[in-house]
Amino acid sequence: MTTPLLELKGVNAFYGSAHVLQGVDLTVLPGERVAVVGRNGVGKTTIVNTLLAIAAMRGGSVHMRGEPLPKLAGHTAAAHGIAVVPQGRMILPNLSIEENLKLGAALRRPGEWTLDRVYSLFPILAERRHTPGTALSGGQQQMLAIGRALMGNPDLMILDEPSEGLAPVIVDEMEKLLRDLAETGVAILLIEQHLRLVLDLAERFYVLSKGRVAETGLMKDVDRESLQARIMH
Ligand SMILES: Nc1ncnc2c1ncn2[C@@H]1O[C@H](COP(=O)(O)OP(=O)(O)O)[C@@H](O)[C@H]1O
Ligand SMILES: [Mg+2]
Repeated sequence: MTTPLLELKGVNAFYGSAHVLQGVDLTVLPGERVAVVGRNGVGKTTIVNTLLAIAAMRGGSVHMRGEPLPKLAGHTAAAHGIAVVPQGRMILPNLSIEENLKLGAALRRPGEWTLDRVYSLFPILAERRHTPGTALSGGQQQMLAIGRALMGNPDLMILDEPSEGLAPVIVDEMEKLLRDLAETGVAILLIEQHLRLVLDLAERFYVLSKGRVAETGLMKDVDRESLQARIMH
């Protein structure tokens, strides 16, 4: 059996005394495209926050490539090849596009993603490299957030609600981009409420409900309507 790239086992996570994740098991294989879906407030972002140590893990374990991550922290995740495209994109308003991209390389791992390569993928970012990141449209800001994540040369890219607020045509472009990226061997963990992107992109899914995995399976076997019912706001 393939060793999972990322493996969460029985993860319990808290904000203060609020017990949000209650025994979550989740795996992502190398190069796999996996979706996490679920209603608002069920704990999807908290999975990301646990990996970045914004939420406190008490109980359970996280492994990367079979190796335990005993002490979680934002830099630990980056050093192990996890890059996050956060919910709301989190473009830093006082930094230029180029400075935002360079932030993604702060803890870079060796690899082929460079500023030039990100610019050739997203020429609009090159054209506007010295303007503030927040001067971009929503779709362009999402390119910037993805480019920033790529600058770390990740093996796993986690995207939290990437299609939020984007026009369908931009979501289609992003789907193609993420699919191409996965073809190069980068695994994708897609946290989404928009079924279209999930159905088009993911091979496997988890439905989260009240901090627990309520259902998991292969996308090709899923009943679209029952999945839709589970992720309505
Ligand atoms: N930083 C935080 N501090 C305290 N509670 C939080 C924080 N972030 C989220 N929560 C709470 O944790 C629960 C899960 O939130 P979240 O993981 O953001 O849900 P989702 O991403 O599925 O919408 C919610 O009840 C939310 O109010
Ligand atoms: Mg969220």
